[in-house]
Amino acid sequence: MGRQLLVLGGGGREHALTSALARSPSVSVVHTAPGNPGTARLGPTHAIDATDPDAVTALARELAVDLVVVGPEAPLVAGVVDALERVGIAAFGPTAAAARIEGSKAFAKEIMEAAGAPTGGSVATSDRSEALAALERFGAPYVVKADGLAAGKGVRICTELAEASDAVDDALLRGVFGSAGSRIVVEEYLAGPERSVFGVCDGTEVVLLEPAQDYKRALDGDEGLNTGGMGAYTPVPGFSLGDVDHLADLVFRPVLEELADRGTPYRGLLYAGLVDTEAGPKLLEFNARFGDPETQAILPRIDSDLAELLWAAATGSVAEQQVAWRDDAAVTVVLASGGYPGSYPTGVPIHGIDELAGLDDVEVFHAGTRLDDGQLVTAGGRVLAVTALGGEVADARRRAYAAADRITFEGLHRRSDIASGV
Ligand code: GLY
Repeated sequence: MGRQLLVLGGGGREHALTSALARSPSVSVVHTAPGNPGTARLGPTHAIDATDPDAVTALARELAVDLVVVGPEAPLVAGVVDALERVGIAAFGPTAAAARIEGSKAFAKEIMEAAGAPTGGSVATSDRSEALAALERFGAPYVVKADGLAAGKGVRICTELAEASDAVDDALLRGVFGSAGSRIVVEEYLAGPERSVFGVCDGTEVVLLEPAQDYKRALDGDEGLNTGGMGAYTPVPGFSLGDVDHLADLVFRPVLEELADRGTPYRGLLYAGLVDTEAGPKLLEFNARFGDPETQAILPRIDSDLAELLWAAATGSVAEQQVAWRDDAAVTVVLASGGYPGSYPTGVPIHGIDELAGLDDVEVFHAGTRLDDGQLVTAGGRVLAVTALGGEVADARRRAYAAADRITFEGLHRRSDIASGV
């Protein structure tokens, strides 16, 4: 009998996790909570609030699962992993204290600096004049960030000093971000492409996954508003696992040691957002979870038992783990609701997904969907993520767009330049 797993969350990342875990030889069943119509095809779903520690521990006990895998940050911040640890159920994800590495930008910078990991200069402050002095010192482009989580809206990058000092006043004087902006971080701007590197961590050791390139802006050519991510590809030429394995010693292990020394060992997925500057990769931020939609591109390339790897991380023995990778590249295209990341309609019928069911190496991950009387309809901003594998990034890109072309819903918006020119 294989392991029984419970994945928390209900987006595209969780569908990709559920799919990779379900094909892991060590697994017998993957439950999801709340899950979505895509995960429901792979295992049972449970309509609980995944951010409620009592509800999660009760469900995990009732199902007698061996391992809970936490997808989004909200259950982490709510202390779900702490609650599972208290009742002796293994969990893949950091405790609330360790997840502060995502929840507080000032804390993340403090850890990076204490660990000696490469990053840009920064000043964390609640004092307006100190913030303005830091802006003058770092120069343009100016970077002002709310310390706490501000629904992706807490970062301002400004070319003019007046605009940057207005951003400071928005946070500190006008309280635009509430308590998330009562402290801000003024940072040195890092120039270069942004890359996502994921480390599977067990508290002291790390196994790096293949880096991916995310596309955060809504429109082609990196125009428009910031989104959760409109597409991704992997491997990234010049920034593949073979090129960046030194980051395990340069970034991940020192950060793990620093967190362990502070009494908050980090187990789970540590997501390093890095800028590939002329002086080498520098840390922009950490997230305490898998990235979305990078996960939808990375996991289909894994050719070994993902569940074994996450189990090892949760129970403290990741060093013995080897990940096998398919040689193929993967490209993921996000299909979003018209209007996203602003307001958008829901309940719009989706057509064409079933036609893709038989295609080799094409997966359609559900992100914001639901079933209405048996009809699949939209239920969120990012609706689906279509991933295809192919020999080279260009092949995977052609296959991903050909598959995406077959899915329709009114108002569908997608970028047409994911992985273009790679
Ligand atoms: N794709 C960016 C993120 O997951 O934060």
